[in-house]
Amino acid sequence: MNPLKIRKVLPQDLDCITQIEAICFPAAEAAPRKVFKERLSVFPAGFFVAELNHQIIGFINSGVTNESHIEDDFFKTMDLHIPNGDNIVIFGLDVHPNYQKRGHAKELMNHFIEAAKIDGRKNILLTCKAHLIEFYEQFGYVNEGVSQSEHGGAKWYDMYLELN
Ligand SMILES: CC(C)(COP(=O)(O)OP(=O)(O)OC[C@H]1O[C@@H](n2cnc3c(N)ncnc32)[C@H](O)[C@@H]1OP(=O)(O)O)[C@@H](O)C(=O)NCCC(=O)NCCS
Repeated sequence: MNPLKIRKVLPQDLDCITQIEAICFPAAEAAPRKVFKERLSVFPAGFFVAELNHQIIGFINSGVTNESHIEDDFFKTMDLHIPNGDNIVIFGLDVHPNYQKRGHAKELMNHFIEAAKIDGRKNILLTCKAHLIEFYEQFGYVNEGVSQSEHGGAKWYDMYLELN
């Protein structure tokens, strides 16, 4: 099998990304196409896709802030994006179900962490559900406990990774 190729997002990737997001997340949490379009146009440097045989099988996307926790509004609008901010916020990490459990999310995350370090960010912030806390801990993320986030009506945990 060909190796996974990780590259920056392109405008023609939008439909595929939106479809994968709708499969990976419940409707109340899934970002719609117009939100991905804005993220792509405002901060393409923080948006990576993973391809196998020229087919997108996953992606990771982000914004930047000086806040220490993610504001729910950031999931809806890049108005809160601060290009030179210290902390990079992961909005989502998705791998299509047909390609999960093969290490692809791990490769995407490691790629993302290295890019954030090169860009001089201080921390990576994310929120996740309880069943994924261990998944993120393997990269060194620290669990800060239940988040104030009410995104999609779910219960989230705040996690951060200090970069140095
Ligand atoms: C979470 C998700 C991205 C993981 O993708 P994946 O490609 O299956 O993950 P990987 O195969 O790279 O897993 C890497 C490692 O994490 C482990 N892992 C995967 N899911 C895990 C979980 N829920 N809890 C603990 N460990 C987990 C794997 O066993 C593997 O460990 P190993 O390296 O020791 O073998 C994928 O399940 C997904 O897209 N889910 C729906 C969307 C979502 O919830 N995204 C995250 C919230 S933003």
